[in-house]
Amino acid sequence: MKAIVIHRYGPPDVLSYETVPDPQPREGEIRIRIHAATVNRVLDVSLRAGKEGARGATLPLIPGVDCAGIVDAVGPGVTKWRKDMRVAAAGMMPLDACAEDNDGYAGPTGMMGIKRPGGFAELICVPACAAIELPAGLDFHHAAVVMRHVPTAWNLLCNVAELEAGETVLVMGAGGNLGSIGIQIAKNVIGAKVIAAAGSDDRVKMGLDLGADHAINYNTHDLQAEVHKITGGKGVNVLYDNIANPKVLPKAFHAIGFDGRLVTAGAHAGPDVTIDFSHLYHKRITIKGRPGYHPPDVPKCLAAAAEVKVSAQIERILPLSRAAEAHRLVESGESLGKIVLDPTLG
Ligand SMILES: NC(=O)c1ccc[n+]([C@@H]2O[C@H](COP(=O)([O-])OP(=O)(O)OC[C@H]3O[C@@H](n4cnc5c(N)ncnc54)[C@H](OP(=O)(O)O)[C@@H]3O)[C@@H](O)[C@H]2O)c1
Repeated sequence: MKAIVIHRYGPPDVLSYETVPDPQPREGEIRIRIHAATVNRVLDVSLRAGKEGARGATLPLIPGVDCAGIVDAVGPGVTKWRKDMRVAAAGMMPLDACAEDNDGYAGPTGMMGIKRPGGFAELICVPACAAIELPAGLDFHHAAVVMRHVPTAWNLLCNVAELEAGETVLVMGAGGNLGSIGIQIAKNVIGAKVIAAAGSDDRVKMGLDLGADHAINYNTHDLQAEVHKITGGKGVNVLYDNIANPKVLPKAFHAIGFDGRLVTAGAHAGPDVTIDFSHLYHKRITIKGRPGYHPPDVPKCLAAAAEVKVSAQIERILPLSRAAEAHRLVESGESLGKIVLDPTLG
């Protein structure tokens, strides 16, 4: 099969498009013919550059932390899946959910694309219990993006912040992946009032287009003052920030109202940020960090995507052979939406 292989860390050119042996499914595994894999700032670009040493990847590595495609073969012991079923898989393998019924899987554990071969390939073997069936009406490209971002945003807003219908949430980085998904979950799934905030006018517009009730450019406006005006001085119930921009987050923090919650799963513009502790205790604010997701939410996320309550923002779909170009696009920070690789395009 064709795959992208990293033999050494470095610039995008280290992503080598080459022929490698087809993986064979072991006991408890299925093999997926991949139609989509997403390209990510941290888990792909930063890892390839050699900046994610703490994650313990070993080279050579086929990167790619998610995939969507068609079951191509099933290993011994697998009963749930048949050839040609449409599936997706992402992240840690096997999932906690596999503890009860793992189809005899006893292979390696860890994250795909980091501790085991990833999705930048024509074929991948994953534990059968870690795959999830795709609902009708959800295409592979959107399914891969949903797997990557929606469960994390869902967990932060629904389970961690416990955002309720009628409450107000301030979504930072409205044009980013977790931001754009967060707006839609807050609005279309929970029924909250959404203030979208971003650092450019086009990303602010994107927040409004996705359904936000209000939007603020935090590079041209005073975020705290604008939220104050919108909420009649009350502040927001929830601040959803996965950026930790030290110039912006202190103002956003002051926009949190009484009994407010700050939830986060990312800090790529930080991590050090000044927090006003007097605002924290006077307003009885709770800060909760929670990366990852709650596996039982994943089918709900895929269903919400199939019903177009949550729509993944895809900027470009490229052949697998153009992975280096995809990395450059993500690295530039200029893309408005996800870059997806499709190995069926070459
Ligand atoms: N499954 C997941 O998605 C997941 C899970 C766990 C953790 N995370 C983490 O969550 C964070 C957000 O992920 P994402 O995919 O939503 O990120 P993203 O789309 O790549 O970026 C989000 C926003 O961050 C701002 N930004 C980007 N680079 C910046 C920089 N150098 N300085 C200041 N601001 C910058 C931009 O917004 P503005 O310019 O408009 O401010 C951008 O739209 C990452 O740290 C990621 O590792 C993600």
